[in-house]
Amino acid sequence: MGSLNFTDKAHAVCVPYPAQGHINPMLMLAKVLHSRGFYITFVNTEFNHKRLLRSRGPHALDGLPSFRFETIPDGLPPTDVDATQDIPSLCDSTSKTCLPYFKQLIHKLNHSSSTSDVPPVSCIVSDGCMSFTLDAAEELGVPEVLFWTTSACGFLGYVHYRQLKEKGYTPLKDESYLANGYLDTVIDWIPAMEGIRLKDLPTFLRTTDPNFIMLDFVFRETERSRKASAIILNTFDDLEHQVLESLNSVLPPVYSVGPLHLALKHHVHDNELKQIGSNLWKEEPQCLQWLDTKDPNSVVYVNFGSITVMTSDQLIEFAWGLANSKQPFLWVIRPDLVGGESAIVPAEFVEETKDRGILATWCPQEQVLTHPSIGGFLTHSGWNSTIESISAGVPMTCWPFFAEQQTNCWYSCTKWGVGMEIDNDVNRDEVESLVRELVKGEKGKEMKKRTLDWKRKAEESIANPDGSSYRNLDKMIQVLLSPRV
Ligand code: UDX
Repeated sequence: MGSLNFTDKAHAVCVPYPAQGHINPMLMLAKVLHSRGFYITFVNTEFNHKRLLRSRGPHALDGLPSFRFETIPDGLPPTDVDATQDIPSLCDSTSKTCLPYFKQLIHKLNHSSSTSDVPPVSCIVSDGCMSFTLDAAEELGVPEVLFWTTSACGFLGYVHYRQLKEKGYTPLKDESYLANGYLDTVIDWIPAMEGIRLKDLPTFLRTTDPNFIMLDFVFRETERSRKASAIILNTFDDLEHQVLESLNSVLPPVYSVGPLHLALKHHVHDNELKQIGSNLWKEEPQCLQWLDTKDPNSVVYVNFGSITVMTSDQLIEFAWGLANSKQPFLWVIRPDLVGGESAIVPAEFVEETKDRGILATWCPQEQVLTHPSIGGFLTHSGWNSTIESISAGVPMTCWPFFAEQQTNCWYSCTKWGVGMEIDNDVNRDEVESLVRELVKGEKGKEMKKRTLDWKRKAEESIANPDGSSYRNLDKMIQVLLSPRV
């Protein structure tokens, strides 16, 4: 067999931030770029690479001849524990330690390109939270697109952190400001966010510590975004039009190219490529068979994503709220969902709900959300979950945990009409009534209609060549193929 010749291909090095909610959309983007002719090097951290091999099997990262996986260390002490890493430590570590390893990797790729079929690195696509990669792109003289995997509204919140600090909103003067109503302060000077309260903005500003790692991290990463050739977001224009305009007025070109899981559906046809997955936990696909046995629009899907940590009291309130709602449910409980202990629901709850509920530790979420029996999603409002739910036409009950999930929740509930918020201080009666309302109530029906409308718009934006996300994808590819300016 003759050797494959890729040397004329554009070569994109894709670098996700090493957490589940970032790896998933970056992998989808990488697949879309591959389907448009790019040679891809996808860079995981060593920690996640090992986790992926454990969750998906020893050949999970073999890749394809022109879609390769590489690793760099994340700088944290090595461990084999299958749990989410501490986010502030990971942000601190990646931003301080990864650049030399990344440059070595680029050097290796370019060096091997003279002796093999690997084309020289011609562009970098990196997570917005891995902005150290910009230095490597500059040194190499190639364009770099930064991918912020948040919503546009969440990103807009981060972009205004600097001003929030300058105006004295953060850091908080003392702990009492967390509870004295201060967080209800309305911020009316951020274009496209009028009426938002401090507590709806990304949560890292709720600190009294002027040296809080996450404040500095957000300042630096958003500031450095200005050096990118372009910024992309996994959203679509109809949904966040004003927010995108607001971002575009202060940053390099910002393109909405989502929803990327729909881009994958419409633009990527290579089955081998589609099979490459990125779930860090082992999926339990049998929940899909269980869903097959349920009535259309009847099941509440409950999942708090990969990072949320709750107390065991909160877990118990959710459990009894679900039980008392009498609705069928699929509840995904990660082993590390409860802080400091293993997440175990009361035995009486399991006994009482055994005919209408199923528990799992991780599921194929996209397939779950598009299953006809799903009637609503009780979610932590992570951006991937939100955009996947909107594009599946599934309305939500929102219990945001941290980061920009509060902002996603505020827009879901007050602007897009697709969500209802559960109080942070969760109690079973509220869970019961909101879950029932979501699946059976008038408000739930109204939200369902709105969500179906967004679903149609999401599909149009990416499936049709004249859709906004489709066109933006083309523009982004042009940036990646053009010489650096
Ligand atoms: C987070 C938050 O999204 C975001 O607010 C923050 O910026 C950092 O990352 P996460 O909390 O994991 O990510 O939530 P989410 O964005 O919803 O991403 C979870 C991803 O894992 C989704 O793509 C979802 O489909 C997938 N998933 C989740 C599964 O495939 N199965 C599961 O059981 C749970």
